[in-house]
Amino acid sequence: MKNYISISKRISKFNKTIEVSGDKSLSIRCVLLASQAIGISKIYNLLESEDVISALKSVKKLGIKYKKFPTYYEIEGYGLNGYNTKKKVVLNAGNSGTLARLILGLLVDSKNQIKITGDKSLSSRDFSRVTEPLKLFGANIESRNKKLPVKIFGTNFLRPISYVENIGSAQCKSAVIFASLKTPGVTIIKAKKSRNHTELLLKNLGVAIKVKKKKSFDYIEIKGQKNFKCFDYKIPGDISSCSFFLVLTLLAKNSKLTIKNVNINNTRTGIITILNKMGAQIKFKNMKNYKGELISDINVESKSNLKGVNCPQSLNSSAIDEFLIIFLVAAKVKGISKFYNLGELNKKESSRLDIAVNFLKMIGVKVIKKRNDLKIFGNPKLKLNGVYEIKKFKKDHRVFMMSCIAALVFGGKWKINDRKSTYTSFPNFFKIIKSLGAKIN
Ligand code: S3P
Repeated sequence: MKNYISISKRISKFNKTIEVSGDKSLSIRCVLLASQAIGISKIYNLLESEDVISALKSVKKLGIKYKKFPTYYEIEGYGLNGYNTKKKVVLNAGNSGTLARLILGLLVDSKNQIKITGDKSLSSRDFSRVTEPLKLFGANIESRNKKLPVKIFGTNFLRPISYVENIGSAQCKSAVIFASLKTPGVTIIKAKKSRNHTELLLKNLGVAIKVKKKKSFDYIEIKGQKNFKCFDYKIPGDISSCSFFLVLTLLAKNSKLTIKNVNINNTRTGIITILNKMGAQIKFKNMKNYKGELISDINVESKSNLKGVNCPQSLNSSAIDEFLIIFLVAAKVKGISKFYNLGELNKKESSRLDIAVNFLKMIGVKVIKKRNDLKIFGNPKLKLNGVYEIKKFKKDHRVFMMSCIAALVFGGKWKINDRKSTYTSFPNFFKIIKSLGAKIN
């Protein structure tokens, strides 16, 4: 199969109901936690993307068995001391920062040396943000230039830590929480707000975790070395995957879309708050609580009178994976949109902030970047007639999907690499977008 797609027709109007695939953050966390539970866990609607498959393959190398059934996966864990590794195991995390960073937390007590590797994109990302706190637990960790490969030897002498997580990174917070599960005594974390799936899952499993929420930080206390039992979990839809369709519908003409069964945990819904500030009027329907996570259907309709937004920094963390697609809306609205302090975007699967600036300039949108702040000058008449080729960006699933949406709503003739990147987080992307009538070759 060729690895690029061509789009040369804008999407026509649609009125549909869809469901997106399971949430990636919850899928990876469920695989890892099931691998440390006692007994056989059943995970329904697990996202079957490369990042999650890498998680399954990694726990298998640590001696954990799993089995795929038509609607769920069974994962058999043997408790917190249940990994059974050969000497010098290599775990390949592929493209997944979440997997590589979280699993390191579970390996702080490893008896043998485990080496974590990843693809080219993951190998260029900083790992000191997790290896430094994990070393404080006493773990022996080696890496060159703060990058992968990272070797972890673990330790028999784990000690609890007090740690301030200042970046607002759920991956760092979760790696420290995972390490605390293995550690005697009480670990204390002061964490800048970020997605809280790990805390909610652990609370549900009966782990001794306490969370006190303050305005911009959470105070978390975990008492370690308490085994937990296997569990059943049904993964809800991923709001990050949903976001491409929210923006497609908003910017298409006279269209309506319902996306069913999406996780709307408020540490993830920054995109909805931002788009609603722009006048999107996105609505939740049939909201319910599932094991601490809020789940809802989402209704969205096309809007031709959107306006610019002055995006408060406090929304950065809850929209962290969605800014690329939000910028497309900013390009098409009346007025200027302002975003602040988005340096973290350049530390993702690719340098997303720099890529966004190049992309917007390429399609003729005025954009000013000062340090890590962005000003986007919207143009409600934005319509493209040119020829565009996306090939120079590093493998990044979200850059690819954002480019497809731009082509479908702004027009022009597009050739976009690389279609295989959708396997990272959203293998059903094409199936769903074609069901809405998109013409993609
Ligand atoms: C994730 C946390 C975020 C996010 C990533 C998934 C997670 O990364 O960008 O896609 O599942 O914990 P950071 O923790 O680095 O902000």
